[in-house]
Amino acid sequence: MGSVITDQEFQLLRDYIEKHCGISLDRNKMYLVESRLNTLMIENGCDNYNALYRKASADTTNGLRDKIIDAMTTNETLWFRDNGPYQSLKELLSTLADEIRSGKRQKIRIWSAACSTGQEPYSIAVTVLESGQAGSGLRPEQVEIIATDISSTALFMAKLARYDAIAINRGLPPDIRDRYFKSEGRVWALSDRVKRMVTLKKMNLQESFSPIGKCDIVFCRNVLIYFSEQFKKDIFSRLAGLLRPSGHLFIGASESLSTYSNEYTMVRNSHGIYYKVK
Ligand SMILES: C[S@@+](CC[C@H](N)C(=O)[O-])C[C@H]1O[C@@H](n2cnc3c(N)ncnc32)[C@H](O)[C@@H]1O
Repeated sequence: MGSVITDQEFQLLRDYIEKHCGISLDRNKMYLVESRLNTLMIENGCDNYNALYRKASADTTNGLRDKIIDAMTTNETLWFRDNGPYQSLKELLSTLADEIRSGKRQKIRIWSAACSTGQEPYSIAVTVLESGQAGSGLRPEQVEIIATDISSTALFMAKLARYDAIAINRGLPPDIRDRYFKSEGRVWALSDRVKRMVTLKKMNLQESFSPIGKCDIVFCRNVLIYFSEQFKKDIFSRLAGLLRPSGHLFIGASESLSTYSNEYTMVRNSHGIYYKVK
């Protein structure tokens, strides 16, 4: 049974969503709130969106809040998304591996800051393994990959690391698939050696980044587009503080940093653009 969202209900839920996960919704996204929250409204015995809002606001367990956030996040992702960042990553890893060899550093820390169902951090892990095999000498235990997301469902899928044919075919070269996945009937299961390299945690980007610790490389891709200008600025500034000197930041192909922060320099190479903290 469908229900039409009113202007006032939309405003209440829009503010609630932005407060709890930073996703900023224009009036032209009324249909999105209506369609994505419709099932939750029915499941929770609510007659309209106002009742759903009131129930979520009164729920001290935050269970309904998490379900609303889950429904409102877009978890679209794929393997080696846009390719270029992973080519650049490979080059950075080889430089960082030299620094490990020369004793200048011990470990490399990489954060996938909105990891969705796992394709991004696992693509990073595979890039590390491939880089080691291609001669960088990098060993998996020398690289720590932390992957976080706000969506419990996306994280559950990431932890499962079993992908159906549609998901597996999105961006994953067949030779990489055959090296790192095992076919199990209708799904492809990621090998334990790749899974082991990634630590998955639930985290809201509105929260302090200090539990993550200092990082050399951050992938914060295709998530900032959902946030307000103010929140983007805040995230870029906090990421600059989290990155080690000369640390690197990868954002989405359609995202830009220049108007939000002067704490980074742009690196442009044949694979595309990424940023280096000053
Ligand atoms: C479109 S996906 C991008 C996934 C991946 N980074 C990529 O580029 O393929 C956006 C992800 O951001 C997550 N997200 C949205 N708001 C967030 C927040 N406030 N904190 C952490 N993650 C958030 C969503 O749950 C979703 O999984």
